[in-house]
Amino acid sequence: MSDLLQIETRGDIGHIVITSPPVNALGIAVREGLDKGLRTLLDDNAVKAIVIRCGGRTFFAGADIGEFGKPVQQPDLHAVLARIENSNKPVIAAMHGTALGGGFELALHCHYRLAADTAAMGLPEVHLGLLPGAGGTQRLPRIVGAEMALEMMTGGRPVGAPQALELGLVDRLAPADTLVEAAQTFAEEILAKNAPLPDLRQRTDRIEADRKEPDLFSAYRKAKARRFKGFPAPENITRAVEAAVSLPYEQGIEREAELFVELLESPESAAQRHVFFAERATAKVPGIGRDTTPQPLSSTGVLGAGTMGRGIALALSAAGYPVTLVDSNSQALERTLGIIRKTCEGAAAKGRMTAEQAEAQIARITPASDLSEFAGCDLVIEAVFEDMDLKQSIFEKLDGVAKPGALLASNTSFLDLDRIAAVTKRPEDVIGLHFFSPANIMPLLEIVRGEKTSDTALVTALGLAKRLRKTPVVSGVCDGFIANRAMAPRMAEADRLILEGVAPADVDRVCLDYGFPMGPFQMIDLVGLDVIGRNANEKTVRSELVRQGRLGQKQNGGYYDYPADAPPAPSPAAQAVINEIAAETGLAPVDLDDDGLLMRLLCPVVNEGARILEEGIALRASDIDVALIKGYNWPVYRGGPMFWADQTGLDRIVATLDAMAATRGEAFKPAELLVRLAREGGLLAEQ
Ligand code: 3HC
Ligand code: NAI
Repeated sequence: MSDLLQIETRGDIGHIVITSPPVNALGIAVREGLDKGLRTLLDDNAVKAIVIRCGGRTFFAGADIGEFGKPVQQPDLHAVLARIENSNKPVIAAMHGTALGGGFELALHCHYRLAADTAAMGLPEVHLGLLPGAGGTQRLPRIVGAEMALEMMTGGRPVGAPQALELGLVDRLAPADTLVEAAQTFAEEILAKNAPLPDLRQRTDRIEADRKEPDLFSAYRKAKARRFKGFPAPENITRAVEAAVSLPYEQGIEREAELFVELLESPESAAQRHVFFAERATAKVPGIGRDTTPQPLSSTGVLGAGTMGRGIALALSAAGYPVTLVDSNSQALERTLGIIRKTCEGAAAKGRMTAEQAEAQIARITPASDLSEFAGCDLVIEAVFEDMDLKQSIFEKLDGVAKPGALLASNTSFLDLDRIAAVTKRPEDVIGLHFFSPANIMPLLEIVRGEKTSDTALVTALGLAKRLRKTPVVSGVCDGFIANRAMAPRMAEADRLILEGVAPADVDRVCLDYGFPMGPFQMIDLVGLDVIGRNANEKTVRSELVRQGRLGQKQNGGYYDYPADAPPAPSPAAQAVINEIAAETGLAPVDLDDDGLLMRLLCPVVNEGARILEEGIALRASDIDVALIKGYNWPVYRGGPMFWADQTGLDRIVATLDAMAATRGEAFKPAELLVRLAREGGLLAEQ
């Protein structure tokens, strides 16, 4: 028998054991294995009950996401599940690890469910822009009721085994290390009882109760409208659950299938599936294999206790690292320690951790005033002011203080890491760890690989990102690295458009409609005009607004006014400044519809991304997508700028850039890579 399928017979119980690393996804080989196992045991008269379980680290992780969009090979999942539910022998799922998507739906087709007490289960298809398409939308409400089913399927978060038991999703729990024996005993007990087999299709108690609440669905839609904006999957899930409540099971299943196909064919799901694989690709660095082992990191140091240092210290301490936090300004250090305490206590008050955990996290951070305190650290992250001379002098000192092999990292946003590394005698240990603000929350960590950064340092940084639960994206050295560099052209274009007569609110609206949580001018008003424009010497709209004391939401408003008793509104004062500067620059007004505005704002981002790729700064196009999704909240259902460009058509992107270059010069000339791919019909996603 193959490694994938093992059949074990213990007395009159047959066990089907599927092992298909890494996560037992229900691809064609696994479906064939299951089908064969089921047929064998169903035909075997000596077998009276069947247990389905998995080898390896987890129960089935769902359908094989890589198969979507390709022709379906038989037996499909529905055929396998039909064999289970129509079995006249009891079938018991024994789950460990995670039972997700189609994997959990398989369990929901079994007559009984047993889970390891450490297991988790759920229907996370929504994160792929899909709905549970193997009966999940019809079966889950029959167990937990419509509201909980909606919550579980539109939220996509798995539930732990104890909660699953409470909800009635499983019949019994067992310690993980005795799951197999527990499944055997459970099966024997079921046989001994000789009771009729439960059939979820026939169960109506929960949905009958839901039928008495006709407003349930409209209320749910209303409550979640903001969260679901732009995502089609939650709406289709809601419709499928409505069908579960109002239609007989078979018709509900047909409705589920229609709604599933609709999503499968949607650009949003294609984008979200792209992001699923893109996120998992970022940690793979060509040329670096498993033989490169990371350095152990047990103690860390952070230099600079400002905005970033504070967030980095919080992120490190949350992940369990002891942190020595140094700042030359004792008041700044005191203030930061106060904020750290408040942040941790606030998290405890909201129930995100216990009071003891909060105290322990605070206690892991030790303040110090001198960087000689870093002598014992395995990793030091520098987050002082963005100034090359200062950073170089600090790295010289760190070189003298830090122990051999310690990783020396800079959080610089724009400076040349190689010049910083060059002042040390160990440039191989110097790396960029570019966090995004707030560093304890934002999920992106750009890892900047200097010319001399060693593979060990890189692998150690990748391991750190994993422990911090952040998504790493590896970047080469350039001005702004990947995310800041690629996004800068959108801001520049927004600044230009308002001088060409487009209202800031229209630029923001187009970005919101595209799916960004905020438009560029709303964002500047939030962050502060003085922060964004602090190095500008020339006269710009922004510098002029700052000169007038308009710093954004924090002071006098910015592009918008913020009246105390009314929503923010476009500011006539800001518009007067815009008009004045526009008159000075003499730019001709443009007449663009929303799509034209969007193309103007986003095509230069794609162009910069293509240059980043051409220069070898990013390892692959999808890393740029991940960087902008995780670092700049690029809407995940657009798949990032490079994926969006592929979907929009590279010929259209190139034509827009050509038109911009014709009036505005070389800076807008489409990158060679874009021109070539557009000509050859290639895709950025394949780069
Ligand atoms: N299909 C194909 N490949 C999958 C997969 C799936 N369902 N789930 C995981 N993988 C692959 C990953 O791409 C990765 O491949 P790589 O090593 O080549 O990069 C590998 O398995 C390991 O995955 P992770 O790095 O994510 O491993 P973790 O241990 O961190 O997490 C997991 C394991 C919790 C199972 C996580 O992989 C996961 O959440 N998987 C997706 C689960 C999911 O969304 N299931 C629903 C699928 S859609 C469906 O079932 C439709 C149905 O309703 C009809
Ligand atoms: P900040 O001004 O809030 O904090 C800098 C801190 O460094 C101050 O507390 C200061 O007292 C301290 N400091 C300065 N010189 C020092 C020295 N010689 N020894 C010890 N401490 C010293 O600055 P912020 O915003 O935290 O930025 C820090 C770094 O992070 C910069 O390089 C910046 O470019 C980068 N960065 C900033 C982001 C942001 O959104 N603020 C995002 C990503 C990176």
